[in-house]
Parts: sequence; C-alpha cells; structure tokens
Amino acid sequence: MALPITNPTATAAWNKLQLHYTQLKNVSMQEMFAQDPERASKFHIQWNDFLVDYSKNILTQETMDLLVALAKEVQLENAIQQYFEGEAINQTENRAVLHTALRAPENSSVVVDGKNVMPEVFDVKNKIKNFSNDIISGKRKGYTGKAFTDVVNIGIGGSDLGPAMVADALQFYKNHLNVHFVSNVDGDHVNEVIKKLNPETTLFVIVSKTFTTQETLSNAETIRSWFLSQEFGTAKSEDVAKHFVAVSTNIQKVTEFGIDAQNIFPMWDWVGGRFSLWSAVGLSISLAVGFDHFDALLQGAHHMDKHFRTTSFEQNIPVVLALLSIWYNNFFGAESEALIPYTQYLQKLAPYLQQGIMESNGKSVGRDGKPVNYQTGTIIWGEPGTNSQHAFFQLIHQGTKLIPTDFIGFIKPLHGNQDHHDKLMSNFFAQTEALLNGKTEAQVKAEFDKQNITGAKADFLLQFKVFAGNKPTNTILIEKLTPETLGALIALYEHKIFVQGIIWNIFSYDQWGVELGKQLANSILDEIHSGTVKEHDNSTEFLLKYFLKNK
Ligand code: F6P
Repeated sequence: MALPITNPTATAAWNKLQLHYTQLKNVSMQEMFAQDPERASKFHIQWNDFLVDYSKNILTQETMDLLVALAKEVQLENAIQQYFEGEAINQTENRAVLHTALRAPENSSVVVDGKNVMPEVFDVKNKIKNFSNDIISGKRKGYTGKAFTDVVNIGIGGSDLGPAMVADALQFYKNHLNVHFVSNVDGDHVNEVIKKLNPETTLFVIVSKTFTTQETLSNAETIRSWFLSQEFGTAKSEDVAKHFVAVSTNIQKVTEFGIDAQNIFPMWDWVGGRFSLWSAVGLSISLAVGFDHFDALLQGAHHMDKHFRTTSFEQNIPVVLALLSIWYNNFFGAESEALIPYTQYLQKLAPYLQQGIMESNGKSVGRDGKPVNYQTGTIIWGEPGTNSQHAFFQLIHQGTKLIPTDFIGFIKPLHGNQDHHDKLMSNFFAQTEALLNGKTEAQVKAEFDKQNITGAKADFLLQFKVFAGNKPTNTILIEKLTPETLGALIALYEHKIFVQGIIWNIFSYDQWGVELGKQLANSILDEIHSGTVKEHDNSTEFLLKYFLKNK
C-alpha cells in the first residue's frame, strides 16, 4: 500500500484555515487569555511524566478543530498505520521506516517482506547487552590485557548525532568509560581526539549504515594507522580485532576493512540514519551508561509510540505539536522554530533534531512527483536556557520575525541543587510569560516614574521599551530527565516529523539533496589529487585553482 497523496492546499480544512487565519491574525493572545480564564486547562495535554501546555499559541478551539480536520482529510490515521506496520513508506528507496520496531517488546510481531523482524532485533539487542557488560566490567580487555577506559564512536550524521546527543544528555547516569566522538573529515578533529588516548585501553566503534561514507572511512583508517603505529603502542594487525567493532548494514565492506565478523553489529535498511540511535548505532550509548539505561531509553520511546499510535489527534502530543508547527509555517509564514531546553544536559538536542527535522522535511517535491506550491520543512535551531536568553532571545522578543518556540523543562534537578534549579525554572516560566505579554506602555511608564525618567527622555525611551508580546510558545514540562523520559521526548519529535511530512505530502525518509554533495566532493577530490581542474561553473573553477596554487 502506498501513502495517501493529497495536496494539503486542496483540502476543505486548508481553505477554512486560510479564512480563519485572516480573522485571527490580529487577535492577540493577551485578549484570548483575558476572555477565557480557563484557557490553559483547555489547551494542554498531560501524559505520563509529561505536561504539554500549548495555550500560549495564537489559536482558538476552532483553530484546533480545523487543524485536526486537516490531519483527517490527508488520511493521517491510515499513514500512521502504514508507518508502524512496516509498509515501504520510504517509497523513493522502497524501504519500510521501522525505528519503532527497535523499541517494541520482544513478543510483538513486525513483518517486513513477509518476515517478522523482532527475533533479529532482539538478537542484536542481546549482543549489545553482552558486549557492553563485558567492556564495562573489564571482562573483555585490550591487546595488552588492560581493561578499556575509553570508547571512540567514529561516524557522522545519524551515526554520530544521536549517540553523541544521548551520551551527553545522560551523563548523570554514566559509568567510568570516557566516550568520545569523531565525525568531521577535518583531520584536526580526529587528531584532537586521539592525542588524549592510549591505544592499549581504547575501543573504537565504527558506525556507518552504508560503510561507504567518506568521512567515517577516512577517520577509521587514520585511527587504525595510529593504533598500529609503533610510535604510540605495540599493537600488531591481529590486535585490531580486539579494539575495533563496527555497526553497519554492509557486512561485506566491514569485513574488507578488517573487522572480525564477531565484532559486527548489524542493522537494517529499514532504519533511517537519523532515526537509528535505537539500533546498534546506539552501542556507544549502551557503553557509556550501561545496557539497562539504554534499554530504558528504548522503553520510554516505545511508550511515546503507543501514545502516538492510539490517542485521538486532539490529545496526541506529536500530532498537536506538528499541527501547531504547520499553523505557523503555512499560515503565519514563520520560517523557523526554536527549541530551548532548560537543562545543560540537552545542549546537543537542537543540533540532533536539525538533522531529524531538516534532512527529513527539507523537500520541495510532493508525493505526487510534482513541485509543491506551499512551504514545507521548518528551520530548527536552539541552545539551552538560560544561556540562550543572553545570546539570541532579544530577537525572539523584539525582532521582526515570528519564531514559535518550544520550551523544555524538568520539575526535578538531577544533582538536587534546588536553589539553582528554582532559579533556572523561574527563568523558564518568566520567558514564556514575557513572550506572551510583552511590555505595555503603562508598565514602562510606571518604571519610569520609579526611576524619575520624565519629559522628552521618557517619550523617546518609551518607543523602544514597549513591545507587543504575542509570541507563541509551547511548554513541555517533564518530571525528571531520565533515560525513559529522554526516549519519549526524542520519539515525540520523530513522530512530529512524520505527521508534518504526511500533511505536506512529501517523502520524509530519503535525502537525495545530501547525496549530490557527496558525489561532487568525490570528483573534486580526484581533481585536487591530480592537480587538474576540470570544467565547473566559473566561481568553483576560480576557487579550486586558487586553492591548488596556494595549498
Ligand atoms: O547526511 C546524509 C547521511 O546519509 C545521513 O542520513 C546519515 O545519517 C549519514 O549520512 C551517515 O551515513 P552512514 O551511516 O551510512 O555513514
């Protein structure tokens, strides 16, 4: 079965939303709150450890009804079923999209090409478990008999961002192993990482779904040469088997690289790179925090999967957040969304979701093969609060652009420092309140009175200090940052991506644009090696010649 094809702009709901937008665009949220003192109790969803308050958005019940009608008109329910049931919804690559199977219980059945994949999923999970336990406990040792102290994940994109983000986010739960990440083909990156390492006690995890990625293979080769170099240790080529493992679908290429068959952690083509941290791509997470925490992360994601799959659209967190994003992107013309976690632990969440969201929904051809005539993928960006307040928040408060923002906060701190946490959370609440209300003339004048600012100076300053507010925010308030809640949070955004892709009528699970750059880089590399510049546009030719002359 193929995904339904509907141009969203041709639906009845879209046309009603357009009219509704013209009625709502000049109504402020302050008025909406003034008219309805119970607004927050209407526009929130409470689910497990999550409270999602979306009342600080420019919407009424009618907006939500129309957005839900849009989701129904594009047959979202049918699409969700196909997604979870392993239909080849990545149609341009003829693949299923089944990261949800990686976190499903062992007794479930997920059939791909007539075969239940769950036994294989659990075989690999057990392999991850045993391997992690042996490395963490010191049972499995390096080539000189010493226990491992360091792990290096070598990968890029989905083979780096997910494990790096989660290992960082869960560092409170970490064991003694130091986990490092090498991704960029920039040799300075790999050199900075390996200069701190001892080859005798370091484990290398090469992660590449395709095992053809230039960056990852170059870094893996550089690291293998360093490992074998007698300048740093005494390793021989037979010791590579003890220190290098790989995660890939391409078993042949991994074997050619010299990795022992026992040290290969397989994955499947039905796991997209940017959704793969739940597979063996998450091996370095399991090494960093232990398999039980890794498994808890998967359980949390599975709970969100169930919520997404079984809850009505009105109460469904990923669906509601996706619909709100469409409301601003397609009707208000918002181009970007900010994501501000109020915990330093989630400092890598925005870069991680940049790949998930922008690689998935940065598409301009509809599922009908025709160019779309409406906006698709949002630009996503963000940094933790409170740091970001002192960096770019001014633009969100008073700039000319509309930037809907997700605030993610936790009720309980991990280290128990309540004083810091209360200060952190007071900022969390204050910012969404400030974005909603702005500052009125009366408030500014009252401040001026207290400060004895009067006359022309007061008139002049007033213009800059008054601002309208009315900036939309979602508040995602979670009990505590745990492996479970983190898993659920990531899955929430994964499903938001899916819902938006369905409504925008695009294919979210391929990335042909990225492939072009890879192809060109390979042919330019040949030119750089040979010193002969072939035919390019005038600018590229000019730059290449300049580079070759001066390198
Ligand atoms: O950035 C493009 C991409 O194909 C991603 O989708 C993927 O996560 C990354 O490259 C790395 O690919 P691989 O795991 O095959 O090395």
